[in-house]
Order: sequence, then structure tokens, then C-alpha cells
Amino acid sequence: MSWLIAGLFCMVAALIAGMVLMYILPLDFSERSPVQPLIFSHKLHAGANGIPCLYCHHHADKSPVAGIPALADCRACHLYISPEAPEIKKLMGYWDRQEPIAWARVNNLPDHAYFPHMMHIRAKIDCSICHGQVAAMERISRTASLKMGWCLDCHRQHKASIDCWTCHI
Ligand code: HEC
Ligand code: HEC
Ligand code: HEC
Ligand code: HEC
Ligand code: HEC
Repeated sequence: MSWLIAGLFCMVAALIAGMVLMYILPLDFSERSPVQPLIFSHKLHAGANGIPCLYCHHHADKSPVAGIPALADCRACHLYISPEAPEIKKLMGYWDRQEPIAWARVNNLPDHAYFPHMMHIRAKIDCSICHGQVAAMERISRTASLKMGWCLDCHRQHKASIDCWTCHI
């Protein structure tokens, strides 16, 4: 009988320990590399063809959001580049229907946290420190946890503000 009670006790203890661990560890279950509605390769654009990040994400150095290029920007090049490729025909289909491409968000903070891109670009922090080697990525993938501890670690290193209201307004 006593072994049964001991066994039961162990199971309950393991369950509680598991729950406590889930709570403490900065586990990260959100999708890192969601499938996108159109195949867009950073490796091909930013890597092989060397198109600068800011050419497409042109708000990054002057606004909180980096911005995703509009269909018109894609079209400006692809009227002439690979117009016959199936994926470009699909792209032009969006244009003809005047339907925006619903890109899946990869890096996303909760609404209560404020992240200004321009402050970081002006502080000369390279995109790759937070986003990894994007120019080598076929499909974009999130490389940082984006947890509060991650922000604070770097802010301490650079003597940037760690006051709560810096990031929580
Ligand atoms: C030709 C235009 C183009 C260039 C050049 C480009 N990007 Fe992008 N980028 C996009 C598009 C379109 C998306 C949205 C689709 C996707 O996620 O693949 C995107 C998505 C991203 C995302 C994910 C956005 C999110 O939802 O979190 C990051 C991060 C990013 N780009 C960083 C970079 C960096 C860093 C560079 C330079 C090394 C770069 N990009 C160069 C067009 C571009
Ligand atoms: C500055 C010019 C430029 C812009 C802007 C641009 N591209 Fe491209 N894109 C290229 C080049 C160059 C290639 C490579 C062509 C090749 O090597 O065959 C390419 C290739 C592609 C391909 C692969 C085509 C194939 O052969 O299968 C896709 C898909 C694509 N781009 C989508 C997009 C989308 C979506 C956007 C807008 C978010 C975009 N591109 C913006 C220049 C551009
Ligand atoms: C200090 C870290 C850091 C640096 C440096 C950084 N980013 Fe980001 N990026 C983030 C975070 C955090 C988010 C999510 C922001 C949110 O959800 O409010 C993000 C989101 C994005 C997005 C999607 C949302 C948007 O703002 O349009 C794109 C695109 C992007 N970054 C591109 C870039 C590019 C290009 C560079 C370099 C010019 C860059 N980032 C530099 C941390 C960084
Ligand atoms: C790799 C280092 C690094 C990371 C990661 C980082 N930051 Fe920063 N952050 C800086 C630096 C450096 C500055 C510029 C400080 C300055 O110019 O005085 C800054 C400035 C800021 C500012 C403006 C501060 C002010 O005084 O106005 C805010 C807000 C901010 N960061 C939010 C965030 C948030 C939110 C995250 C996480 C999602 C984050 N940062 C991640 C390095 C980083
Ligand atoms: C450099 C930016 C930054 C600073 C400074 C900062 N936070 Fe945060 N905080 C974040 C980000 C980003 C998140 C969202 C990501 C996460 O949940 O870890 C967050 C999340 C939180 C949450 C929600 C946690 C959850 O589980 O949802 C609380 C509460 C919080 N912060 C309180 C504070 C307090 C209190 C301070 C001051 C002592 C502070 N923060 C300072 C960036 C910051």
C-alpha cells in the first residue's frame, strides 16, 4: 500500500514541478517562421542581389515601425524582372485585384510594449543583432525571444534607459 501512496506522491510532485517550470522558463511556443502567402526570399533579394534592407523597409531609420514594402514597390521591379515566373504572376494577380498581400507577422510585441526602430538604428545597432542573418534566409525566421529580459540585457550593456515607462506607456 505504502508504495502506491509513494508513487502517487511522486506523480503529483512531478506534475507540480512541471507546472512551476513552465511558468518560470521563458518558453517560447509562438511560430518562428510562419508560411507566407507568397514565396518571398530574402536570400535572393538582400543576399544574391544585394538590395539594401532600408530600400524595402524604408521607415526603419525614421519611425517606430520598419514597414513592409507595398505591392507597388514589388511591381516597380517585377514589371521588368522575371515577369513570366509563376510567383510573379501571382504577385501581379494581387495588384490587378488591388488586394494587399496579407504577410504573416514574424516579430511581434504585445500592445503594451513600445519598440522604436529609429532609436536603435540611430544608435548604430545592426538589423542582424536582433533579426539574425536575414540576407541568408530563404524564408524569414524570428531569431530573438523578444522577451523583456532580452531588451533589458542589451539596455544595461549600452547604458540605455531601463525605466519602466521607456517601454510601457
Ligand atoms: C526587396 C524587398 C526587401 C528587402 C531588400 C528586404 N526585405 Fe525584409 N521583408 C520584405 C517583405 C516583403 C517582408 C514580408 C514577407 C516576409 O516575411 O518574408 C519582409 C519581412 C522582414 C522581416 C520580418 C517582419 C516581421 O513580420 O517580423 C524582417 C525582420 C526583415 N524583413 C528584415 C530585413 C533585413 C534585415 C533586410 C536586409 C538584410 C531585409 N529585410 C531586406 C522585403 C524586403
Ligand atoms: C529592387 C528590385 C526588386 C524589388 C523592389 C523586388 N524584387 Fe523580387 N526580385 C528582384 C530580383 C533581382 C530577383 C531575382 C531575379 C532572378 O535572379 O531571376 C527577384 C526575384 C523575385 C522572385 C522569384 C522569381 C522567380 O524567378 O521565381 C519573387 C517571387 C519575388 N522577387 C517577389 C518579390 C516581391 C513579393 C516583392 C515586393 C515585396 C519584390 N520581389 C520586390 C528584384 C526586386
Ligand atoms: C534592437 C533590436 C532591433 C533592431 C536593431 C532592428 N529590429 Fe526590426 N524589430 C525588432 C522588434 C522588437 C520588432 C517587433 C516590433 C513590434 O512588434 O512592435 C521588429 C519588427 C520588425 C519588422 C516588422 C514590423 C515592422 O516594424 O514593420 C520589420 C520589417 C523589421 N523589424 C525590420 C528591421 C530592419 C530592416 C532593421 C534594420 C534596418 C531592423 N528591423 C532592426 C527589433 C529590432
Ligand atoms: C541589441 C541592443 C538592444 C536591444 C536588444 C534592445 N534595445 Fe532598445 N535601445 C538600445 C540602445 C543602444 C538605445 C539607444 C539609447 C540612446 O540613444 O540613448 C535604445 C533605445 C530604446 C528606446 C528609446 C529610449 C529613450 O530614451 O527614448 C526604447 C523605447 C527602447 N530602446 C525599447 C526597446 C525594447 C522594447 C526592446 C525589446 C523588444 C529593446 N529596446 C531592445 C539597445 C537595444
Ligand atoms: C527596454 C524595454 C522595457 C523596459 C525598460 C521594461 N519593460 Fe516590461 N516588457 C517589455 C517587453 C518587450 C514586454 C513584452 C514581452 C514579455 O512579455 O516579456 C514586457 C512585458 C512586461 C510585463 C508583462 C509580462 C507578461 O508576462 O505579460 C510586465 C508586467 C512588465 N513588462 C513590467 C515592467 C516593469 C514594472 C518595468 C520597470 C521595472 C518594465 N516592465 C520595464 C519591455 C520593457
